[in-house]
Amino acid sequence: MKILVTGCAGFIGYHFSKLLLDNQNIKLYGIDNLAKSENNSLKKIRLFELKKYKKFNFSNTNIANKLKLEKIFKKNIFHSVIHLAAETGIRKSIDNSEIFFSANLRGFKNIIDLSVEKKIKHFIYASSSSVYGENVNYPTKEDEPNKTPLSFYGATKLANELIASSYSNIYKIPTTGLRFFTVYGPYGRKDMAVYKFTEQIINKKSINLNNYGRDLRDFTYIDDVVEAINKIFLDVPKKNNLYRVFNIGNSNCYSTKFLIKLIENKLLKKAKIKFAPKVYGDVKKTLSDCTKIKKKYGYYPKTSLPEGIDKFINWYIEFYKLQI
Ligand SMILES: NC(=O)c1ccc[n+]([C@@H]2O[C@H](COP(=O)([O-])OP(=O)(O)OC[C@H]3O[C@@H](n4cnc5c(N)ncnc54)[C@H](O)[C@@H]3O)[C@@H](O)[C@H]2O)c1
Repeated sequence: MKILVTGCAGFIGYHFSKLLLDNQNIKLYGIDNLAKSENNSLKKIRLFELKKYKKFNFSNTNIANKLKLEKIFKKNIFHSVIHLAAETGIRKSIDNSEIFFSANLRGFKNIIDLSVEKKIKHFIYASSSSVYGENVNYPTKEDEPNKTPLSFYGATKLANELIASSYSNIYKIPTTGLRFFTVYGPYGRKDMAVYKFTEQIINKKSINLNNYGRDLRDFTYIDDVVEAINKIFLDVPKKNNLYRVFNIGNSNCYSTKFLIKLIENKLLKKAKIKFAPKVYGDVKKTLSDCTKIKKKYGYYPKTSLPEGIDKFINWYIEFYKLQI
């Protein structure tokens, strides 16, 4: 069985690809365009690790390029598509809406169109907690009625869900959207709080702490996330329920100020904090209700934030060969 993973050089794409390659009799085809960002050195390292597997094939392809994608889908028969490639970052999407439009909307449409054309058994794609926006009930359930994204990034993710819903209805393609909540862990993203704050504390740089450290996030450890994707992807939705979305979170939330405390305690170093006001586009709180995925797949996030931070920093110290 051959699976397509887009965004395989990205944080979640790398971990999920590795899990498939390690544990299952699956051939994997990965696509990524190594989009320029502060994460580029990590993308190259992740890809280097994946290329060690004989069962792994890679194409450096921009998902906005339909012609190139058509050639890939012509040469390969994919059982399922795990579509994780996207431009990411709430604030970046406000300043660079054009590239977000190209990757997250045009790219998404290209991949789902080809999945329909080639009668892919299951189309799984990354959505985000940012589809919810701010004026919602907590913990937030998938069927939250007041969803209103605050950022353009969140808007592209909600648009993806709407497109998937219409495609499941029109073309009968089984689709599953995964609303991830602030994922962190080894080989994570340098633009996100856990990695960024750790790096800033170690390098004695000051941390700009938005919303005075009061933002609350449902931090979710990467191993729990890839375990959830693994449970979902082989279970193809049935005829009467072809369109689904699931929250994938930890169902606990902590302030960014508390996150800094945990990192300080583990590193035995003090952070230099510059408190800053709330940033436009950021929500004050995310908190998932994961009852739906628990009931369906027995998903229980195993890693608490203190445990996850401990594991992340152990990895960080070893990865950068630090003496701490
Ligand atoms: N990490 C999180 O906390 C989080 C939260 C919610 C949703 N998500 C979603 O999960 C998915 C994976 O996130 P991640 O954290 O691994 O992000 P990431 O940025 O590490 O990975 C995304 C990958 O997509 C690739 N990409 C971007 N544009 C592309 C294009 N036009 N063509 C081909 N490849 C392209 C990038 O090079 C990158 O390697 C994304 O869709 C993201 O929006 C992530």
